Amino acid sequence: MVVHKVNRVYERHNVDHSGLSCLKLLLLDVPQYKFRGDTVLLQCVFDLQSDRLYSVTWYKDHEEFYRFVPKANLPQHSYHLDGVDVDHHSSDSQKVLLRNVSLKTSGLYRCEVSAEAPSFTSVHGEGRMEVVSLPKENPEITGEERLYQVGDVISLNCTSDSSFPPAVIRWYINDEPVSPDFETEVDSQGLYSSISTLQFKVEPKHFVDGRMKVRCVSTVSTETDNVLEHSVEPLIDNREALLLVRGCGALQTACGLLTLLMTSLVTWFTA
Ligand SMILES: *[C@@H]1O[C@H](CO)[C@@H](O)[C@H](O)[C@H]1NC(C)=O
Ligand SMILES: *[C@@H]1O[C@H](CO)[C@@H](O)[C@H](O)[C@H]1NC(C)=O
Repeated sequence: MVVHKVNRVYERHNVDHSGLSCLKLLLLDVPQYKFRGDTVLLQCVFDLQSDRLYSVTWYKDHEEFYRFVPKANLPQHSYHLDGVDVDHHSSDSQKVLLRNVSLKTSGLYRCEVSAEAPSFTSVHGEGRMEVVSLPKENPEITGEERLYQVGDVISLNCTSDSSFPPAVIRWYINDEPVSPDFETEVDSQGLYSSISTLQFKVEPKHFVDGRMKVRCVSTVSTETDNVLEHSVEPLIDNREALLLVRGCGALQTACGLLTLLMTSLVTWFTA
């Protein structure tokens, strides 16, 4: 599952005052999202035209982490930043390879290319990268396993496995969406586990052919509200837990004894 987005490129001063064409930024490639542990290639492709390269500098959230100066004794230099581990062997003037990315690698990446005298032209581009961590397990529905009567309140929790960004939990009773009563998030080292609590009064209408189906869907999505990003396919990971509640006998209004019967799990992905 590799999704790439080519970020916008900003160009400036690409004709110097003498009218000669000079340094141009052709492409900045910062992947929009990656998984924890991935290797990430950042590309900053430029055309020098009649210019000579002075330096290429990379920043994460305005802090420099890599510099390429062809005339220096050691053309490559990197600075330590949390979550940014540059592989020098696979990096050069037009690309930087980051190893084993973590949640701390997320941020705004900027590449700045500068030419030597006489033009001193400088061009730059920037793009945001988010590192995501998908849940490894399906969500789990828990509740008190006992007999219920019509009029009793059933209280269920659905807990998602830890992820970043946090999962959004939706509930369905017999495929009809229902709103949870409250939601909480548990934070553990940058990863979140969501707990959603659903409470409802048992009614005969909940039973179709003598049983009720309660479904909890946990969704981790990179979809943003930012309209500028709308052309990018978001990554969506959906997982669900299913709970069947059995009605007693030939269910009539008077008979409302229920047993929490079983749980089964289903996973589906969309990318
Ligand atoms: C990747 O980084 C994590 C910490 O973020 C570390 O625990 C793990 O050992 C690293 N893996 C490799 C292959 O270097
Ligand atoms: C449901 O979660 C809440 C915390 O959000 C907890 O206090 C309660 O004991 C949980 N109930 C069950 C049945 O797991």
